[in-house]
Formats: sequence, C-alpha cells, structure tokens
Amino acid sequence: MIKRSGQILYAIFTAAILCAGMWLLAFATPPVVAAQGDADVTVDHPPTDSDCLVCHTENTSQQMTLANGSQLSIAVEHDALLNSVHGTTLEDGPLACTDCHGEDIFPHDAPPAASIREYRITQSNICIDCHREEADSLGDDVHYTALVEGNHRAATCVDCHGAHDVQGPQRSDLDIAQACGDCHQIVYSEFSQSVHGEALTAGDPNVPTCIDCHGVHSIQHPTTALFRNRSPELCADCHADEQLMAEYDITTNVFDSYLSDFHGTTVALFEQEAPNVATNKAVCYDCHGVHDIARADASNSHVIRQNLLSTCQECHPGATADFPDSWIGHFPPTLETHPFLFLVNLFYTILIPVVVGAFVLLVLTDIFRRIRQRLSGNRHRT
Ligand code: HEC
Ligand code: HEC
Ligand code: HEC
Ligand code: HEC
Ligand code: HEC
Ligand code: HEC
Ligand code: HEC
Ligand code: HEC
Ligand code: HEC
Repeated sequence: MIKRSGQILYAIFTAAILCAGMWLLAFATPPVVAAQGDADVTVDHPPTDSDCLVCHTENTSQQMTLANGSQLSIAVEHDALLNSVHGTTLEDGPLACTDCHGEDIFPHDAPPAASIREYRITQSNICIDCHREEADSLGDDVHYTALVEGNHRAATCVDCHGAHDVQGPQRSDLDIAQACGDCHQIVYSEFSQSVHGEALTAGDPNVPTCIDCHGVHSIQHPTTALFRNRSPELCADCHADEQLMAEYDITTNVFDSYLSDFHGTTVALFEQEAPNVATNKAVCYDCHGVHDIARADASNSHVIRQNLLSTCQECHPGATADFPDSWIGHFPPTLETHPFLFLVNLFYTILIPVVVGAFVLLVLTDIFRRIRQRLSGNRHRT
C-alpha cells in the first residue's frame, strides 16, 4: 500500500517537471533580438517569411562580405520564389524561407563560405535534402565527379536550375541550352549557328538540345568508347523517324544506308563485340561535325562536295580528289550521280534474273528431254 502511493507521488512529480519544462520551452524562450546589418529586428520562433523579408527586401542595397573580400547582395525577389516550382502551385503552399535555409538560420552567424563560388556549391546541398532521386543519379556525372575532384567551375544544381526562381519541365529547350551555354560558351555559340541550333532559336521543338545528346543528371564524357559507338543511334532517334523527317523533306535513308555501308556495318558489329573500344570507323559526326552540323548543301557543310575530301582525309590521309566517289553516300546511286555504279547495278538487276532464268529453263528442258527419251526408249524395248 505504501509502496503503491509512493509510485503515484513519483509519477505526479515527474509529470509536473515535464510540464514545467515544456512551458519554459514554449512560452519562456526570450525573443531573439538581433542586430543584423543596419536593422534591429525582433523575431519570434519559428521565424516566418515576413520576418526574413524585413531585411531581405528586393531593393536592399545591403551586401554580405565574404572572407575573400567579395560581396554578395542579400536582396531576395520574393515574387520569383512564389512563381517558381516551389511557389504557389505547390499543394501545401509555397516553401518557406526556413524550409530551405533551416530554422536556425537567424540570427546569422558569420558568412558561411569564403567565396561566392564556394557559397553556391555548399548551398546546393539544400536541394539534395528534398530531391534525393536526382542527387543519386549524379553518381558518375561529369560535373559531379569534377566537383568532388575539386574543380569548382563544374555545374551544381543551382547553376542549372537557379535557387529562388527554379522552373519546372515547362522550361523551353532553348532555355536549357542557354543554361549550359553560360559555361560552355564556345560550344553554345557554335551550336546556335548549326542547322539544329538555328531551328531551336526559332522555336522548333523537334531539334535536339544539349540534353537530348548528353543526358541530364548523368552526363558522361562524350569521348568515351561507349558514347562514340552508340552515337549513330542517337542521331537515328530522329533521323530514322519517317514521320518527323517528312516534315523537313529529309531522307530517312541516312541510317539504313549508313548501316549497310562499310563504315556503319563495322561500327554496328563493333558495338556488339567490343563496346568499350572506340571504333576508328566513321560515325555520323565524323562526317557531319558535332555542334556545327550544317544543312548538307550549305557552303559550310563538312559533307558538301568541296569540303568532303578534307573530311575523308582526316582518316584516309592519302585520299585524292576522286576518293569521295568511292563512297556512294546515303542515297542509292542514280544515272546522274554515279552513272557507272548505276549502270553496274542496273546491269546486275537485269543480268541476274536473265542468267538465273536461262539456267532454270535449261535444266527444265533437259529434264523434259530425258523424260521423253526414257519414255520413247521404253517404247522401243517393248
Ligand atoms: C535584421 C535583418 C535580417 C533578418 C531579419 C534576416 N536576415 Fe538574413 N541576412 C541579413 C544580413 C545583413 C545578411 C548578411 C550576413 C552578414 O553580413 O553577416 C544576411 C544573410 C543571409 C543569408 C546568407 C548567409 C547565409 O548564412 O547563408 C541567408 C541565406 C539569409 N540571410 C536568410 C535569412 C532568412 C531565411 C531569414 C528569416 C528566417 C533572415 N535571413 C532574416 C539580414 C537579415
Ligand atoms: C528552394 C529553396 C530556397 C528557398 C525556399 C529560399 N532560398 Fe534562399 N537560397 C537558396 C539557395 C540554394 C541559395 C544559394 C544561391 C546561390 O548561391 O546563388 C540561396 C541564397 C540566399 C541568400 C544569399 C544571397 C543570394 O541570393 O545568393 C539569401 C539572402 C536568401 N537565400 C534568402 C532567402 C529568403 C529571405 C527566402 C524566403 C523569402 C529564401 N531565401 C528562400 C535556396 C532557397
Ligand atoms: C523542402 C523541400 C525542397 C527543397 C529544399 C527543394 N525542393 Fe524542389 N521541389 C520540392 C517539391 C515539394 C516540389 C514539387 C513536387 C515535385 O514535383 O517533386 C519540387 C519541385 C522541383 C522541381 C520541378 C520538378 C517537376 O518535375 O516538376 C525542380 C526542377 C526542383 N524542385 C528543383 C529544386 C532545386 C534546384 C532545389 C535547390 C535550389 C530544390 N528543388 C529544393 C521540394 C523541395
Ligand atoms: C548540368 C545541369 C544540371 C545540373 C547540375 C542539375 N540539373 Fe536537374 N535538370 C537539368 C535539366 C536540363 C533538367 C530537365 C529539363 C528541365 O526541367 O529543365 C533537369 C530536371 C530536374 C528535375 C525535374 C525532374 C526530372 O528529373 O526531370 C529536378 C527535380 C532536378 N532536375 C533537380 C536537380 C537537383 C536537386 C540537382 C542537384 C543535385 C540537379 N537537378 C542538378 C539540369 C541540371
Ligand atoms: C557552372 C558551369 C557549367 C554549367 C552550367 C554546365 N557545365 Fe558542363 N562542364 C563544366 C565544367 C567546368 C566541365 C569540366 C569538367 C571536367 O571534365 O573536369 C564540364 C564538363 C562537361 C562535359 C564533359 C566534356 C568536357 O569537356 O569535359 C559535358 C558533355 C558537359 N559539361 C555538358 C553540359 C551540359 C549538357 C550542360 C547543361 C545541361 C552543362 N554542361 C552545364 C561546367 C558547366
Ligand atoms: C546532336 C547531338 C549533340 C547536341 C545537340 C549537343 N552535343 Fe555536345 N557533343 C556531342 C558529341 C557527339 C560530342 C563528342 C564529340 C567528339 O568526341 O569529338 C559532344 C561533345 C561535347 C563536349 C565536349 C567536347 C567539346 O567540344 O568541348 C561538350 C562540353 C558538349 N558537347 C556540350 C554541349 C552543349 C553545352 C550543348 C548544347 C548547347 C551540346 N553539347 C549539344 C553531341 C551533341
Ligand atoms: C531530336 C531530334 C534530332 C536529333 C537527335 C538529331 N537531329 Fe539532325 N535534324 C533534326 C531536325 C528536325 C532537322 C531539320 C531542321 C531544319 O531543317 O530546320 C535536322 C537536320 C539535320 C541535318 C541537315 C539536313 C539537311 O537539310 O541537309 C543534318 C546533316 C543532321 N540533322 C544531322 C544529324 C546528326 C549527325 C545527328 C547526330 C549527331 C543528328 N542530326 C541528331 C532532328 C534531330
Ligand atoms: C562517310 C561520311 C558520312 C557518314 C559516316 C554519314 N554521312 Fe550523312 N551525309 C554525308 C554526305 C556526303 C551527305 C550528302 C548527301 C549524300 O551524298 O548522300 C550526307 C547527307 C546527310 C543528310 C541530308 C540528307 C538529305 O535529305 O538531304 C542527313 C540528314 C545525314 N547525312 C545524316 C547522317 C546520319 C544520321 C548519319 C549516321 C547514321 C550519317 N549521316 C553518316 C556523309 C556522311
Ligand atoms: C573517322 C575516320 C573515318 C572517316 C572520317 C572516313 N573514313 Fe572511310 N574508313 C575508315 C576506316 C577505319 C576504314 C576501314 C579501313 C580498313 O579496314 O582498312 C574505312 C574504310 C573505307 C573504305 C573501304 C576501303 C578501304 O580503304 O578499306 C572506303 C571506300 C571509305 N572508307 C571511304 C570513305 C570516304 C569516301 C570518306 C569521306 C566521305 C570516309 N571514308 C571517311 C575511317 C574513316
């Protein structure tokens, strides 16, 4: 009996201590009064967006000075955030500042990075917290690998997506190319003048943008054997699509003709037998170029007649002026383009049925003759 009431007293005592503790935590935490830059601001816990926006207005001229002396504006465009994928379209309402920056961001400590670049790289970890899937696929990505190896110029989530103004898949293919072009300026300027890039700039959704060929979050080094050997299939995705190519009056024979010629056959065999050894045979981009692909009949095309020889010479150094004729191209030979080949083909298309037909006829008449002979011989014997 005494033991039982002791237990009850003990329980009441612990409950009272717990309640007091919770009351202290909930109501008695003193408001944080922080002098941050020019303003004295009082923030209740947990801080809301409007607390942050007191200082982080769009128009503030205030700067954050980093250890290396560089300055970063602390102005935040709240509207850009509200209009982003993390804004008003989210089911549970826009993300709060503290969803990304954490509740203990304020009051601020010393600036968290030594340079603007370092700041962006560390802040990109914010994205990874919620987007694990994308982060996981970065495992062997060229940019991610470069970052890990200490190349701070390589792309982070924020470089490609932005921070407060992240856009979703409605972002246009041109916007994507421009985002890559921020860093890959030479490639971008070459690409924007190519047959694909010009169409992209004009708003054509059917031409490739950077990520159609390179992928998104698992970009590989395009100089690997696997990338090279598979590249004809990359082009074939579109150039073997009859419906798509009909719109542009471009032949889809390019892929079939490529596979049936000596270069293509060996590349295709190669891919099956030794996918990790780069083929030395011509793939589409050896002849057409990569980011500077032009219309086949444009004066700057690598494959127009007057430039074709030097294109072949990259791999056939001894090739002379008539060498390109040794490859009939993507089109079946015609009387005008390749009269000799055309006539040879024609000759065979006529000759073979004639020879085979004659041979069959010969055999048949022979059989017939023998049967007749046998029949008449039999008659003689009886
Ligand atoms: C009293 C004004 C004030 C308030 C309120 C305030 N900040 Fe700041 N904030 C600053 C100043 C000034 C800096 C520059 C830092 C420095 O110079 O130490 C800064 C820097 C920052 C930075 C960059 C540095 C870092 O640590 O990443 C972020 C992010 C930030 N604030 C977010 C917030 C958020 C989120 C809130 C609301 C929870 C908030 N701030 C509330 C004034 C304020
Ligand atoms: C979706 C996540 C996200 C949300 C929501 C968010 N931020 Fe940021 N914020 C970032 C990232 C990432 C950076 C780093 C940007 C960079 O380095 O270019 C950043 C940078 C900053 C900076 C440093 C200056 C700058 O622009 O680089 C300030 C200040 C800041 N945020 C304040 C805020 C405030 C205030 C809010 C709420 C109105 C807010 N942020 C909401 C992700 C977010
Ligand atoms: C607090 C969690 C959170 C953080 C941090 C966050 N996001 Fe998001 N993000 C979401 C949610 C929720 C959605 C909408 C649902 C969805 O599509 O996944 C979204 C959507 C997106 C989308 C559009 C996806 C689609 O398919 O429509 C992109 C792109 C994106 N976020 C990029 C980023 C980047 C870049 C950062 C860092 C600057 C970041 N996110 C930080 C939660 C977050
Ligand atoms: C080299 C540029 C680049 C980098 C780095 C990058 N992304 Fe992307 N990301 C893209 C492109 C391009 C798309 C697809 C089209 C679009 O919506 O812009 C995309 C799509 C997304 C989407 C939409 C859903 C999906 O998978 O298609 C999310 C979410 C996303 N990225 C998050 C991230 C996060 C988080 C990081 C960092 C861990 C990151 N991205 C790094 C370029 C990049
Ligand atoms: C912030 C700058 C930046 C952005 C944005 C960026 N890249 Fe890169 N990228 C780099 C750097 C730096 C390297 C070199 C990495 C290395 O190999 O050390 C690189 C490497 C590459 C490579 C490997 C070939 C090479 O030269 O090393 C490819 C392919 C590539 N990027 C494609 C893209 C595509 C596609 C996009 C857009 C979706 C993009 N990049 C956006 C900086 C960037
Ligand atoms: C039609 C497919 C295709 C498109 C579109 C494309 N690339 Fe490439 N890219 C390639 C191929 C193929 C290579 C490999 C070339 C080689 O090995 O000679 C390459 C190589 C690269 C390289 C490394 C070599 C170099 O030239 O620096 C980078 C970086 C690169 N591309 C970035 C981009 C960017 C950025 C865009 C968009 C503006 C883009 N690519 C558009 C197919 C493409
Ligand atoms: C995403 C689809 C797509 C991919 C991938 C693609 N192309 Fe194209 N390509 C097109 C379209 C569409 C056009 C027509 C553009 C126009 O005429 O405005 C075109 C035009 C061309 C032309 C010009 C044809 C002419 O009119 O003479 C050549 C050459 C070409 N592509 C070669 C390639 C090569 C080589 C590759 C692979 C490295 C490739 N393309 C990958 C869609 C694609
Ligand atoms: C050995 C060099 C060579 C290779 C390899 C090659 N091409 Fe061509 N391509 C040419 C030449 C030369 C032309 C000009 C027309 C012709 O003679 O067939 C051409 C024309 C084209 C055209 C324009 C067709 C039209 O209707 O005007 C396209 C598209 C094309 N090639 C795509 C490709 C694709 C895709 C591949 C890879 C599957 C490829 N080419 C491989 C040399 C090559
Ligand atoms: C990327 C390198 C490359 C390019 C560019 C290239 N070829 Fe070839 N080509 C090869 C290789 C490798 C072989 C196989 C040689 C062998 O097996 O002896 C070959 C074989 C040939 C053959 C078979 C006869 C022989 O020499 O073995 C002909 C014909 C040929 N190429 C014509 C052309 C023509 C025409 C062009 C330009 C339109 C061209 N090639 C461009 C690499 C290339």
